[in-house]
Amino acid sequence: MGVKALGYVIIESAKLAEWDRFMCDVIGVMRGEGAPAGSAFYRIDDRPFRFWIREGGQEHFTAAGYELANAAELLELKANVAAAGRPVEDGTAEEAAQRGVASFFRTSDPDGNGLEFFCGDTRDDVPFVSPAGVSGFVTGDMGMGHAVFCAPSFEKTHDFYKNVVGFGDTDFPRFHFTDDPQDPGMGFAFMHADNGRHHSIAIAEMPVPPSGCVHLMLEMRDMADVGRCNDRMKAAKIPESATLGRHVNDRTFGFYMQTPGGFDMEIGFDPLVIDWKNWTTTAHTVPSEWGHEWAWQKALAEAQ
Ligand SMILES: [Fe+2]
Repeated sequence: MGVKALGYVIIESAKLAEWDRFMCDVIGVMRGEGAPAGSAFYRIDDRPFRFWIREGGQEHFTAAGYELANAAELLELKANVAAAGRPVEDGTAEEAAQRGVASFFRTSDPDGNGLEFFCGDTRDDVPFVSPAGVSGFVTGDMGMGHAVFCAPSFEKTHDFYKNVVGFGDTDFPRFHFTDDPQDPGMGFAFMHADNGRHHSIAIAEMPVPPSGCVHLMLEMRDMADVGRCNDRMKAAKIPESATLGRHVNDRTFGFYMQTPGGFDMEIGFDPLVIDWKNWTTTAHTVPSEWGHEWAWQKALAEAQ
């Protein structure tokens, strides 16, 4: 048993128009058809939606939806999650139809990060066309990308993802973001599903922010797609959270920008694709090989 991939995300927002500009004009994703009233679907490939943004009273990441191979595995996972003491709620047939899945259940990790697990995905016949000219997003077996959550109960939450849900450890580092030798560093767990993506989920040892998410990652097909997206971000005056750079652990080239929801969107290219039979868990000490100057680092440097 194992999770196949990240299938979709659900976000609550009071700023649907701002999200729409961000998604279509800055990232370059496509509006999807058939979203219930007061919400919007956004596509990055042939799935009817990868982002479901629903109008609400707060800016909050509702859930990351992960796919299981079949109904039997979904039922087994549901039993494991309930046995681990997490709340489990079955989605109704209508809710499953809205998601374009056969069935799903809702839960959360021990730090309260929202999750859905589903089986029986669907595809749309209408081809994906980016309104901003993005050549495409890398999805398929590797899913839509990855989600990163905060986990103040780091060990407990890591245990949940590893031993209850069934993700595997890819990289288990402590990152040092300062030059201070006393800096204890921050624990991270980068975990993979049953696909070649370096991580489909990651957790960071820090308090859960009001947005409910650290970042999401989308992978573009071409380096020029990433560069042009960075240009669109600047033209639209979207705050850049980290400049262009390359990660050490998954080798992804890209940058981060702030979504209207307060969390970040990582736009990446050329990450490692891994055969798990030949992988030993790594433990890197720094996140980036070059670049990725974070907005808070920039502000600190400018203040000094
Ligand atoms: Fe990431």
